Amino acid sequence: MKKAGFVYNVNDIREKYEHPWKKERIYNSKSIDFEPGDGLVLFRRDFKIPEDTVSVKIRATALGIFELYLNGMRIGSVSEGAKVYDELKPTWTDFTSRVFEYEYDITDMCGGKNTLVAEVSPGWWCGRISFGFYGFKPRAFCGEIEFTLKDGKTKYIYKDWKTAIGGKVRRADIWDGEYFDARVADPCLEPGKYEWTDAIPFADTSCKIVKPVGEPIRVREDLERHPVSTVVHKGTEDNGSDFGRIHVLAKKIGAGCEKLKLADGESVILDFGQNMVGRPRLIVKAAAGTVIKGYFAELLNDSGIEARGNDGPEGGMYIKNYRTALARLTYVAAGEGEETFVPLHTFYGFRYFELTADADIEIVSVAGEVITSAIAETGYIETDNAEVNKLISNIRWGQRGNYLSIPTDCPQRDERLGWTGDTQIFCGAASYLSDINSFMKKWLGDARDSQKNENGAYCDVIPRVFAGKNNGNAAWGEAGIIVPWRLWLMYRDYDTVAEHYDSMEAYMNYLGQFGLEGPNTAYGDWLNYEITDKRYIAVCYYACVADLMIKFSKILGKADRAEFYTDLRRRIGEHFSENYIVNGELTQKTQTAYLLALKFNLLPGDMREKSVKALEKKIIDNNYTLSTGFVGTGVLNQTLSEVGLDRLCYSLLLQSADPSWLYSVRQGATTIWERWNSYTKATGFGNVGMNSFNHYAYGAVAEWMFSKMAGISPDEDNPGFGKFILCPRPDTREPAEIPAGQDKIKRVYARYDSVKGRIESSWEYENGEFVYKCTIPVGTSARVEFPLLNGRDNAVINGIVFTPTELSGEINDGRLIFVLGEGSYTIK
Ligand code: BGC
Repeated sequence: MKKAGFVYNVNDIREKYEHPWKKERIYNSKSIDFEPGDGLVLFRRDFKIPEDTVSVKIRATALGIFELYLNGMRIGSVSEGAKVYDELKPTWTDFTSRVFEYEYDITDMCGGKNTLVAEVSPGWWCGRISFGFYGFKPRAFCGEIEFTLKDGKTKYIYKDWKTAIGGKVRRADIWDGEYFDARVADPCLEPGKYEWTDAIPFADTSCKIVKPVGEPIRVREDLERHPVSTVVHKGTEDNGSDFGRIHVLAKKIGAGCEKLKLADGESVILDFGQNMVGRPRLIVKAAAGTVIKGYFAELLNDSGIEARGNDGPEGGMYIKNYRTALARLTYVAAGEGEETFVPLHTFYGFRYFELTADADIEIVSVAGEVITSAIAETGYIETDNAEVNKLISNIRWGQRGNYLSIPTDCPQRDERLGWTGDTQIFCGAASYLSDINSFMKKWLGDARDSQKNENGAYCDVIPRVFAGKNNGNAAWGEAGIIVPWRLWLMYRDYDTVAEHYDSMEAYMNYLGQFGLEGPNTAYGDWLNYEITDKRYIAVCYYACVADLMIKFSKILGKADRAEFYTDLRRRIGEHFSENYIVNGELTQKTQTAYLLALKFNLLPGDMREKSVKALEKKIIDNNYTLSTGFVGTGVLNQTLSEVGLDRLCYSLLLQSADPSWLYSVRQGATTIWERWNSYTKATGFGNVGMNSFNHYAYGAVAEWMFSKMAGISPDEDNPGFGKFILCPRPDTREPAEIPAGQDKIKRVYARYDSVKGRIESSWEYENGEFVYKCTIPVGTSARVEFPLLNGRDNAVINGIVFTPTELSGEINDGRLIFVLGEGSYTIK
């Protein structure tokens, strides 16, 4: 039987607007109203259950975000006895190629007479976030209701839909938010209140409907947040600043602090204590027609002084950094006692939520629902340093918020895009914190889809929203090759490599047209403190991907291609030497330049040691602070450890001066920020043009924490953790080399749920003695690189003394190296 195709509503005429990035941007401000529209596009089908039906299913998808309702009830699925809902369906793919279809069993929800309604908002298809890439075409829907009869064979499928525009959601957009009017007739329960026409087949798309790949977007109930404090305020008072300070009427803290009565014209700011991504769930009592407005912010204005970047009074919501994204919520009450509202067609990146209403209301409760791609969290790490632990928490929240259908740069402003540089820089850290295999496999599909129309270039933003530009840029485009390498190391999924190989070759062919110069150079070491030549970075990344292509070709047994890339890599190396090495020294002398040359093996043997020394000196001379941007920071500590500078890693990790990881922690961060100084207590907010407070790239250091500090590392020769490496690198700094104000890390505990089972690795000092504990999962083995501290030349394993010979091990660079099989060990 022919599958149903997309249908649409002819009245869904989309206004073509100039994209805000193209004209002068008007930044988010409370002076801009969030107007209601006419409602979403609705599709409806009434049906009676045919005789002898044993099961009823709905299969559906949309171009736009869709929600399904049967007889007024939201459709979801049942997991472990509980109802769960796929959020923001059909998630984000390259809609020129594919869209995901969802199937739900609705047998138990059906009655004698049934009405099924789909409501479709613009979403990633034609909302503002699409940048008009698909031409602002109408929203379309595709649904089939399938009845299976008793004999198990006979099936009836209904594919025709009525359509109208309306519903309680008056307007929704991912960037701008949602406007919901609870007074409006429910199209599912009162369809007679609408004028329905036949939906028309929508042929204006090449999009294929396919089964979902990767995890759905879900609410993480275990992470639900409740306000930690509330501040009711009205008007402003003078504090000598440009905007003044909010006039506070009442403050409350602790559980239930949001339960309050808000009078007409008053506002309440709710602090969730954590910059998070999701939406509020609101329970209120209000008279019919009361307009309740919600604003979101990541930070509050600190002084009301404009020169410090404030956009409003001290204590008020700082919303300007959302740029043109309005990020609003409006709820118009039905006046029916306690009313619960959750916006389902958008998401927000926020820590603070402000409510205000045009009549007295009672707030019964407000919860913060966290929504994210439902990937399993696999890694945990902690130390004896509270600030480092906070940093780890900030990194984890960054991943939760930015792994939402696709890996994004940020979750709040008028971007939320799949910027590939951010993706590749963070994927190592992400692969410890969570099982990203399916999530990234799905994204690699998007990468291939987006690449098809771009001469082989990987787009800088995947899925594409900018055609014909912003593609194949150094350290961004290479994500298409670096991410699969990370997946190979962690999960050893041969099919992914096989499936993706031709695409990687297409990218290499694309790069081939530039001789040995490497990819394009739009971004360089983005947001650095010290500029590295962009072409230099491009050549380094070209070498990096040529190396990876040698490895991938060997994995797939493509000897001729491995040879080709070996030759290419040799030529890139020569090109690098000719252009960037003079008299045995690098011409580029930034931290990032040294890091890339070392990381990607671009230095002739004799220059390596000299460059390590030079890099070390540079960092020390810079008062133990980094100067790197996205590119350098992405490999910073990982590379320093690889070249033997573990001690310097600790000095950088524990640095708290600007710029450093703990600097933002000390400025109050609860996520990783876009810039090292996105906010400083001393000078206020950074440049609002680029100032996200949830940008995970600098969180790449978590990869080092797991792989070197705690020492859980995949083995490149045996990927997938069947055999792996345990190489704990304790903080062995001598007092003289510890920057003022730092303490040594004395305890680390980490665990990682690898595909082969749980690995644990921890170390601490007992009476000054280094004690290492590890657990190696059943059926696996680990090469242990045990640091021999305090002149030791043997190891005491579970109480028994072993010499290197007894362990069939060797001593190398101060470490005793030997193999252990499954089990738990204490090694001293
Ligand atoms: C994003 C970055 C991204 C960059 C490209 C920005 O607007 O937020 O994280 O990688 O553009 O340079």
